[in-house]
Amino acid sequence: MIASPPASQAVSLAIEAAHKQFSGNNDGKNASYIPYLASVPSHLFGIAVGFIDGTVIEVGDTSYEFAIESISKVFTLALVIEQIGAEALREKVGADPTGLPFNSVMALALHNGKPLSPLVNAGAMSTASLVQGKDAEDRWRQILNMQSRFAGRRISLSQEVNQSEQTTNFHNRGIAWILYSSGAMYSDPIEACDIYTRGCSTLITAKDLAIMGATLANGGINPVTKERIVQSANVPHILSEMMMEGLYTASGDWLYSVGLPGKSGVGGGILAVAPGKLAIAAFSPPLDEAGNSVRGQLAAEYISQQLKLNIFAPG
Ligand code: DON
Repeated sequence: MIASPPASQAVSLAIEAAHKQFSGNNDGKNASYIPYLASVPSHLFGIAVGFIDGTVIEVGDTSYEFAIESISKVFTLALVIEQIGAEALREKVGADPTGLPFNSVMALALHNGKPLSPLVNAGAMSTASLVQGKDAEDRWRQILNMQSRFAGRRISLSQEVNQSEQTTNFHNRGIAWILYSSGAMYSDPIEACDIYTRGCSTLITAKDLAIMGATLANGGINPVTKERIVQSANVPHILSEMMMEGLYTASGDWLYSVGLPGKSGVGGGILAVAPGKLAIAAFSPPLDEAGNSVRGQLAAEYISQQLKLNIFAPG
């Protein structure tokens, strides 16, 4: 049985303490391989918690719009799992951690070109190619619409981020062609790479991310709009993918210390979901070697411990 969510006052105290404690941490560096991301002010730091009743508690820079990046993979996964079903997705893309960096070609080479996870670049492009639509524009509209439904407001593409990504995404284009040659790409590979890249180039705030995560914590119903976005049966599949691969090579360490399914993006966003309770969202651009927000991870660990959210620690 899931215990009730922690009281909002305890959450306020925990997020304020985390913000105070970690805002002075200057470890890590902004992602630099996408020029736009290098230019985002490194001091920005916001934490938001979204509850399953739709309440959001915030501290710091929670209205700054940042690039969603890899966190988009969760919502494209949600779209495709709804459209083709969990078993078809597992058969076509896979459901296992790679243990290798998010853009690893070696991971593909080791598994006959099968991506294993919808949450690494290869698997996310393969998943984007499975969006059921009449053409690439239709598939893109659905990806954007899914992000918007999770956030409960219209999410937009940043032309600036997209331009910065599309003109530097040669490695991902290479991965798209490898997938095509191994039979794990289900549309034109460059179209799939293009819509995947656009999906990474939308702007969200930490508050949006808290609501997106709270939708998963709430069994697939957006707690603010009350719209059902994902069937409840599909939510555990999405959360288990996040648990296995949400923070790439650091997924195990994250689980060991935070004890919650999570997802990060190189834009500095990070999300942790406590099923049946709440979601913790943080934004802080400097990243560690694995590509995960340094302050975001520290904050999530602190908050999870303070509020006893670890799903492996009953009571
Ligand atoms: O595919 C890429 O390289 C980026 N658009 C997204 C990568 C990302 O966010 C990985 N994250 N931690």
